[in-house]
Amino acid sequence: MRHRTLTVSLLAAALAFGFGTASAASGNAANGKAKAAPCEACHGTNGNGIAPNYPALAGQYPDYLVQVLHEYKDGQRTNAIMNGMAAPLSDEDIADLAAFFSSMPSKLSDLHGKISGGN
Ligand code: HEC
Repeated sequence: MRHRTLTVSLLAAALAFGFGTASAASGNAANGKAKAAPCEACHGTNGNGIAPNYPALAGQYPDYLVQVLHEYKDGQRTNAIMNGMAAPLSDEDIADLAAFFSSMPSKLSDLHGKISGGN
């Protein structure tokens, strides 16, 4: 019985610390929401973009959002608007923003039933 309790505790600790720190996107969604105000002008308050030329961020994989924001920040990916938006963001800001947008409901879907002649 005692062993079992110990095993469960160790497992809980491994989950809390081990896997938690291994994730690239361990940001805080609540903090991300507070930081997202400037982003919402284009990406929308629901994270799905105010027009088709503004990509939907809602429900996107957090690791992807972290990756691409770093690419805009260091210039690997060039876009006049987003290079400027990402420039002042810290690693923590990026993680928090990624956690926030990825936690929002996605409107993305596949093309099932939308292609003429398909199903
Ligand atoms: C003035 C409008 C505008 C604002 C404000 C803005 N963005 Fe963007 N964002 C864009 C446009 C346009 C693109 C597409 C750029 C491209 O084609 O590379 C984009 C692309 C992105 C992408 C890549 C999406 C993908 O699918 O690859 C991310 C992530 C992103 N923005 C996050 C943010 C965050 C976080 C903020 C706030 C700090 C922000 N944006 C503010 C216009 C904006």
